[in-house]
Amino acid sequence: MKVIYADHAATTFPRPPQVIEAMVNYLRHIGCNPGRGGYRHALDAARLVYEARTLLATFFHVPKPEQIIFTPNVTSSLNLVIKGLLKPGDHVLLSSMEHNAVVRPLMRVAAERKLQVEKLPCKPDGTLDPKLVQNALRPNTRLVVLTHASNVTGTLLPVYEIGEILAGKDIFYCLDVAQTAGSEEINFQDLHCDYLAFTGHKGLLGPPGIGGLCLSERAAACTLPLVEGGTGSRSDEERQPELLPDKFESGTQNVPGIAGLAAGIKLVQETGLEKIKKHKEMLIAAFLEGLGSIPGIKVYGTKIPSKTTATVSLNLDGIDNGDLSFMLEQGFGIMTRSGLHCAPWAHQTIGSFPQGTLRFSFGLANTLQEIEEIISALRTIAAEVA
Ligand SMILES: Cc1ncc(COP(=O)(O)O)c(C=O)c1O
Repeated sequence: MKVIYADHAATTFPRPPQVIEAMVNYLRHIGCNPGRGGYRHALDAARLVYEARTLLATFFHVPKPEQIIFTPNVTSSLNLVIKGLLKPGDHVLLSSMEHNAVVRPLMRVAAERKLQVEKLPCKPDGTLDPKLVQNALRPNTRLVVLTHASNVTGTLLPVYEIGEILAGKDIFYCLDVAQTAGSEEINFQDLHCDYLAFTGHKGLLGPPGIGGLCLSERAAACTLPLVEGGTGSRSDEERQPELLPDKFESGTQNVPGIAGLAAGIKLVQETGLEKIKKHKEMLIAAFLEGLGSIPGIKVYGTKIPSKTTATVSLNLDGIDNGDLSFMLEQGFGIMTRSGLHCAPWAHQTIGSFPQGTLRFSFGLANTLQEIEEIISALRTIAAEVA
């Protein structure tokens, strides 16, 4: 049976050959640790990592490459921000569409350090009124942390407008761009943000196990590292060096992952964000139109293609979304994700808690033909369960 992969919000698949080749090339021909030796292979590895850092700085419009640090994924980056920045008594704002990658570390730190955490309510379509941020600010507000787009509905939050509100204030601004890096324009400087947490294995087309964090200089100075140890620099000192990126990068790095991520970003750049966005908007528009013709389907989110990523969440009357996901795969080879998608707050916001939703999320490789096939499969199942 032909398969249709519609779970790009979880991870990109299949991986582009260039990404695989870049990883194999490192493993086969370089293979050594960057910054840990003066011989050719170590220098080649250091060059590879430096070039990837520079590429990321250009891609996200970050002033200096050393303001990019590599982590295993966006979850690790968000843990670093939350655990490394916040102090007892701090007030933190976040939205009601956040992923557990933010909610769980924040709830632990809030309990341990007696933080004041304020959840800003998004509308049932997942949108957030920037005025809510403005009105919620207090003298002790230390951090505003927001997802750029919901991984449940795809709804984009007004992160640039909120950046304008926070600009020039003594408040740190952190964005989780897991769902938007590689499909939306993300300009670190125009956003006025202090932390940009990204993951490599979704829209950036890289492998799993590599992600990172862009930090402003003031954020880097105020954040404690989560992990300390060997950096290959200032080894005579007993304390972790303050210099970037070493302050936050201890231990042997995932160099094959970095090589794959750099190849993925180059592909995104070659294709162009504009083209990627247009393609996804076209798919979402066709998908939403098709869904409108199927009785019993409830679609969540804004339903405006330009205001979402290529993600649509839905439920079908008469069938549990887990069973629907199973039937789509078994009967039609269509791969989707059901349930809460690690974002229970988002479901409470849009009215799909606790049952969750069936999520479709598309990538550059998906076609209009596939959208038609998915609509036809859903129509068949809808008729069966009606
Ligand atoms: C909005 C959001 N934040 C965080 C994550 C966690 O990503 P990772 O598992 O790569 O750390 C995801 C991934 O599903 C996500 O969609």
